[in-house]
Amino acid sequence: MLILGLETSCDETAAAIVEDGRRILSNVIASQTRLHERYGGVVPEIACRAHTETILPVIEEALAGRRLSDLGGIAVTSSPGLIGALLIGVTAAKALAWTAGLPLTGVNHLEAHAFSTLLADPAPEFPYLALIASGGHTILYVVEGPLAFREVGGTINDAAGEAFDKVASILGLGYPGGPAIEHAAREGRPGRIEFPSAALKPGRDGRFDFSFSGLKTAVLYRVHDPKTGQPRPRAPGDIADIARAFQETAIESLVSHTVAAAIHHGLGRIALGGGVAANEHLRRRMEATGTRQGLEVTAPPRALCTDNAAMIAGVGFHRFAAGLADRLDLDAVPTK
Ligand code: KG4
Ligand code: ZN
Repeated sequence: MLILGLETSCDETAAAIVEDGRRILSNVIASQTRLHERYGGVVPEIACRAHTETILPVIEEALAGRRLSDLGGIAVTSSPGLIGALLIGVTAAKALAWTAGLPLTGVNHLEAHAFSTLLADPAPEFPYLALIASGGHTILYVVEGPLAFREVGGTINDAAGEAFDKVASILGLGYPGGPAIEHAAREGRPGRIEFPSAALKPGRDGRFDFSFSGLKTAVLYRVHDPKTGQPRPRAPGDIADIARAFQETAIESLVSHTVAAAIHHGLGRIALGGGVAANEHLRRRMEATGTRQGLEVTAPPRALCTDNAAMIAGVGFHRFAAGLADRLDLDAVPTK
């Protein structure tokens, strides 16, 4: 069965066709990064306007000559995300479903990130621990099936990607921050700076939470004197050293907590998802540390880590198979 997936929760307009929840037939992503670049972050009004202009051409490209009647259903991100942005995808999905008489289902964007690894080759077996680290969220899920997600960790303030974006802005490295920090960190000298971990003490209830705001503030105070608010004197190479130390600390926190959570919950596999999972250092460290602990680690291709509609179509297939279609009064919900 072919499912059309639609994704408009943030700053990517995406449509994809996936067969039987596994085989990606098309995966079209129109990124708005260049529109938001000069503001240093996503501007909701600009995102909505771009989604409105792009959604129909993106859907047409994903259909690649197929008709709506070739489809078995339409799946759309309905939460969480920017409310105006979500509404554009949800409204388009409803209109198409109604016109073509197709079943419709809303999909949770974070659960779809945790599912995305199942579209990769090889896909992990259930159960696995998914680390979803993106610009808006940082979550650990125990995944027991394509629709069975249990949250066992999260962030109590900034998301991991948000910390990369804010630190890049503090260091004057541009937007989006993740790739900019990764690039700058390559020139950084090891062991020159230490920052506090973002991994909080594990809770007795089996939760493994993060706090990235202390790490971000430590970077800020390294660059600006908190008493005077003035920039501190800088030597050549300082920015690269700070970028490197920040990246290593943020990633070590993600890796140590994810591995500890997998062991605590008796899981033998870890899967990565979300934009930060595109980070080469995170992929390598998770693989090395996980393998040392006897855990299997899968990091899907980068295009499946960042926002895409193939993961939405994938979850959608399983929702239809489980009889979980939604009606045309499906709502967009900004919170998770
Ligand atoms: O999943 P995603 O594409 O969108 C959201 O759902 O937020 O994630 C975007 C986030 C941004 O914060 C971006 O800076 C971060 O992922 N990111 C990275 C890298 N590439 C993207 N963070 C660290 N290293 C990277 N290479
Ligand atoms: Zn995302």
